[in-house]
Amino acid sequence: MSFRIQPPAPARPNRCQLFGPGSRAALFEKMAASAADVINLDLEDSVAPDDKPTARANIIAASHEVNWGSKHLSVRINGLDTPFWYRDVVDLLEQGSERIDQIMIPKVGCAADVYAVDALVAAIEAAKGRKKRISLEVIVESAAGIAHVEEIAASSPRLQAMSLGAADFAASMGMATTGIGGIQENYYMLREGSKFWPDPWHWAQAAIVAACRTHGVLPVDGPFGDFSDDEGFRAQARRSATLGMVGKWAIHPK
Ligand code: COA
Ligand code: MG
Repeated sequence: MSFRIQPPAPARPNRCQLFGPGSRAALFEKMAASAADVINLDLEDSVAPDDKPTARANIIAASHEVNWGSKHLSVRINGLDTPFWYRDVVDLLEQGSERIDQIMIPKVGCAADVYAVDALVAAIEAAKGRKKRISLEVIVESAAGIAHVEEIAASSPRLQAMSLGAADFAASMGMATTGIGGIQENYYMLREGSKFWPDPWHWAQAAIVAACRTHGVLPVDGPFGDFSDDEGFRAQARRSATLGMVGKWAIHPK
């Protein structure tokens, strides 16, 4: 063992993270009643640009009004390459209740992306006298994200979890995928005429797990696109758990 002891990850359950668009407020009570450990209210890619202000207002209202029980309540803000993200953070933390636990930063490419959000969050917390210290989670879903995965895992004491986002990751990498997560039709090996499908996500997951375990962060597997494929979803989740990931996203209550 190295002299440096591996730090423990946050001691809270993070088995299922359920997502819902911030623009669909009718889903919030159902999400709160679900069995998920973590709730991710989304301001990013499931919300159209014109709907961002309404989605922010919905999430702020729901932070005051919905009973989220013991769930870890996280809000996914827009990426740092958009004009939306600073307003997401400012409105959420100036107007949202203390019930908000966490902010999720998508498409993180380097440690400085986390630093920027950390600094803004810290200033608003101090200015508003917020008592609960907001934690952060990030999505690694780009070539830059996986290239800088270790510095991202080490980027902030607020950082609690890191997810692999298969769809944007595949796009950024130029991968010729046929689905979001799981088996990819053209990623096969041939032996005596029989096809065998290895796991194209394996290396990225292992890189995330190693970076997370080094820095005391929870490694999480992201979305599985085809939520009608129960067995495919289970198989992907079991592979992730086998590699050391603690949980997986759900984008539908099924
Ligand atoms: N959380 C909680 N409940 C949900 C839900 C969610 N994410 N998505 C759907 N439901 C509810 C529906 O309201 C419906 O409830 P009802 O039986 O009381 O009417 C039930 O589950 C079945 O829903 P269904 O009709 O199959 O889905 P839909 O067509 O309403 O919505 C999606 C399908 C994919 C658009 C929707 O699930 C969704 O928006 N998911 C999240 C997408 C997201 O956040 N993506 C960003 C991360 S990748
Ligand atoms: Mg994404």
